[in-house]
Parts: sequence; structure tokens; C-alpha cells
Amino acid sequence: SRYDLLVVGSANADLVVGVERRPAPGETVLGSDLVVHPGGKGANQAVAAARLGARTALLARVGDDAHGRLLCESQRAAGVDTGPVLVGGAPTGVALITVDPSGDNSIVVSPGANARLTPADIRAAGPLFAAARIVSVQLEIPLETVAETARALAPGTRLVLNPSPPAPLPADVLAACDPLVVNEHEARYILGILGQDAGSAPQDWAGALLAHGPRSVVVTLGAGGALVADSRGGGPVHLPSPKVDAVDTTGAGDAFTAALAWRLGLGEELAEAAAFAVWVGAAAVTRQGAQASFPTAQEVAAP
Ligand code: RIB
Ligand code: NA
Repeated sequence: SRYDLLVVGSANADLVVGVERRPAPGETVLGSDLVVHPGGKGANQAVAAARLGARTALLARVGDDAHGRLLCESQRAAGVDTGPVLVGGAPTGVALITVDPSGDNSIVVSPGANARLTPADIRAAGPLFAAARIVSVQLEIPLETVAETARALAPGTRLVLNPSPPAPLPADVLAACDPLVVNEHEARYILGILGQDAGSAPQDWAGALLAHGPRSVVVTLGAGGALVADSRGGGPVHLPSPKVDAVDTTGAGDAFTAALAWRLGLGEELAEAAAFAVWVGAAAVTRQGAQASFPTAQEVAAP
């Protein structure tokens, strides 16, 4: 294949402000100086994979503006093929991010051009799909575009889907996921237990999620590592995370998913690929920003 990984997804300018605590409704708080980082779950995954050494292409849409140029620059600097990036139709997507002293973030995304990445754009990119071992997609683009992406897969190409932010997935899309990659919030959304603490333990989620149709499942648990389960047998298996000091968790999930997708494309088993991805995600939380925090393969101290 020409590409180890084709990422179909979003590109956002991340407008980041550090806060002591988040404002309550109607309240104003003062934060740190504004920092603008290249971000977006799709663009983040592409940079993370390329930095690890994967031959990567990004199919996304940005605006014809300074944020769009910032994003394309960051992709090219990491070695991503930006040939498929479409330009225009709306301003580049923006993510308004607050980061608190524990390194946790809250994000509001204004999709902008991401909302104009259409099923027709996916069909027009047809040959790209035949050139990729793995296709990865998230939910910051329209759901019908995600569904078209699942239909565009060449025979034998694996789809890695991170349903973030969560939305109801059609059964045929769920059935194409191999794996479905979710964090705790996304897992609870799909299992219908959002806001419930009782009644279900994360160890049981991987198996329960398989019942929703994906071929395999990965649940990321932050500092708790990850759980994997495969409908063809195997699992659930728990992969622990190394202990790190969290500075900024933004994009750590994207780095995890990109690393996982790349290693699956190299032919690794799900648990093996996830064990490596946990180390990549852990490295990403030790530095500021999303893309700027992603490690090279040499920087990942995975066993
Ligand atoms: O997953 C992190 C990303 O979510 C940020 O870069 C932001 O753009 C939002 O899309
Ligand atoms: Na980070």
C-alpha cells in the first residue's frame, strides 16, 4: 500500500486558555494568555501517526484562511501527505479549550469547514481508499460522511473509528469498526449508562460494547491504560499505562488511536498494538498542546 494510514476527519485551530477552575453558568473567570495550536481529532491523528513513522494521508476540509494554513503547515512538517486536504466552503474549524491545573481539558468545537466535508468529497477521493491499509475516522465531521467512509473501504482495509464527540452510529457503521475506540464517556454513551456510576464496571465494558456490533473494541481508561476485546475471540485484555505527570491531556486519545491504527496496519494483534499505543498516549499527556506533544517512535519507551 502507498499509505499505512488514511485519516478521514477534522482539522481545528485550538484556542487554548489555562484556568484555575472553569466558570459556572453566568460566571466570568480570568485565564492565562491565549495559545493557538493546530488540532482537531483527524489532523491530530495524522500528525501522531506520521511522527511515529507511518506513511500517512489526511482527508479533511479547512477554510481558506490563516488557521487552515497553520494546520496544513503542521501536517507537512510531520510528513503527512496533505494532497487530499480540501480548502474552502467555510472558515477553518475552531476548538475553544480550557485546561485546568490537573491537565484536564474541556472543549467546545465550532466545526466550520469540517461540517462541509461531504459524502461526495469521500466518493471523489475513491482511489485513496484503495491505497491505504487502515482508514481512521472520528465524529467531528458529518455522520453521513462517516457512513460514506465506511462504505468506501477497499476489501481487506480495516476501519478504526473513535466516536468522539458521541453520536448515534448506524448499525452498518458500527459493524465495520475493527476496532471501535472509546474512552469512558463514549463507552457510557454507547452502553446507555451516561451519568450512572453504579451497575457497571469498566472491566465489563469491552465485552458489552462488542454486543453493539463492532468487530473489536478498545476502551481507553486514561491513567488506567486500556481494555481490548475481539469478537473473533480473545479478551478482554487489560493493558496498563506507565505512570506519568499529566501536563495537558489534549489530543492524548488521538495519539493513542493513531498509534494503534498504525501498528494494526503493520500486522500486530489488537492487544499488542494497544499496549504500544498506551505508551504513546502517556507520552502525549506529559507535554503542552495536542500535535506539539506527540512523540516520535524513539521517544516512546514502550517495552
Ligand atoms: O482530541 C483533541 C481535539 O479535540 C483538539 O485538538 C480539538 O481540536 C478537538 O477537536
Ligand atoms: Na498534550
